[in-house]
Amino acid sequence: MNSAEQLKALETYFQLMSMKGIVEVFHAARRAGVLEALAGGRHTAAALAAKCGLCEKPVSLLLRALNTAGIVQMTGEEYVAMPVLGFLSGTYQDLSNQYWDYLPSYLETGLPMQRMDDPEEGRKHYVEQARSLRGMMLPSAMAAAGMLGIGAQLKNLSILDVGAGSGVWGQTFALHDPQARITAIDWPNVLEMARHYAGQAGLGERFQSLPGSYHEVELESAGYDLAIAANVAHLETEDGVLRLFRRLHAALKPGGHVLVVDVFHGQPNGEINASLYELGLALRTGHGRVFDHESLSLWLRETGFSDPQYRPIPVTPFTMGLIFARRGLPRPPIAHD
Ligand SMILES: C[S@@+](CC[C@H](N)C(=O)[O-])C[C@H]1O[C@@H](n2cnc3c(N)ncnc32)[C@H](O)[C@@H]1O
Repeated sequence: MNSAEQLKALETYFQLMSMKGIVEVFHAARRAGVLEALAGGRHTAAALAAKCGLCEKPVSLLLRALNTAGIVQMTGEEYVAMPVLGFLSGTYQDLSNQYWDYLPSYLETGLPMQRMDDPEEGRKHYVEQARSLRGMMLPSAMAAAGMLGIGAQLKNLSILDVGAGSGVWGQTFALHDPQARITAIDWPNVLEMARHYAGQAGLGERFQSLPGSYHEVELESAGYDLAIAANVAHLETEDGVLRLFRRLHAALKPGGHVLVVDVFHGQPNGEINASLYELGLALRTGHGRVFDHESLSLWLRETGFSDPQYRPIPVTPFTMGLIFARRGLPRPPIAHD
């Protein structure tokens, strides 16, 4: 090994050790009740130790490590919880342990632990999942609105948001386009949540829901300016994607646009996230997969769209990308940011 290789090996070693270490510190803090005790205020290590029935010195060391990882903030002698704990709630409160614990079985059997791509099973899980996804997708949705000129070049939109989840994509676009109207398709229980967020964002009057499967609900023919399919292609087979694209084509006005948003490989600072996402998808779905943008673009062309353009979305988690295509004649390129 030359010295550059040795340094690289050492760097990888420290990265692995620190990732594992922080994960273990996080789990220990959660299991011992320290994270819960931190909620809603400032606490010293001594106060937290007393509250949780723990020893002061270990708690103090634990908090210092959590501080370096951005999970708590230390000011003088006091600690306060950081907003990241908002994401680490619900199914994510234990860093998705249930999936990772299943990984050895997946390696042996090749069988997923869940079938979230199965409509019956998926609808049980998606309220929780889509709620967590909302905060994770918000920076990407805001960036995409800017990249596409929503509210500027594209405005007064009638938006169809399929597999809307929390409604984060359509709603973010509608906040940029004050005349936009949204029709969200998803399962009834998921749409209740989307409606709640629409109301919170002051979009209640411009939001309507269409409950049921996006493969089956009746869609107004040539009724929409923009159809959004965000984070749904990866739940479908190739045949499912083609069927969905054909339906969206028929639902769009001539000259309307389709926006496909999904996880793609390729952004250097998102490659770990994209690979782990792909593995996680295999653990929780039967046929879910990360498609490449070339395949999705080809299928858009095959279903009648013209000039599909792919752009990575350059914000955290650096895994998201968009494909924008037109029902009709080719369109000018998307502006670079
Ligand atoms: C991964 S989530 C994406 C949610 C949202 N678009 C986002 O990006 O945050 C997938 C969503 O598609 C919905 N979904 C999956 N299959 C569906 C189907 N056949 N019909 C309607 N909705 C479906 C799920 O309920 C879930 O809300």
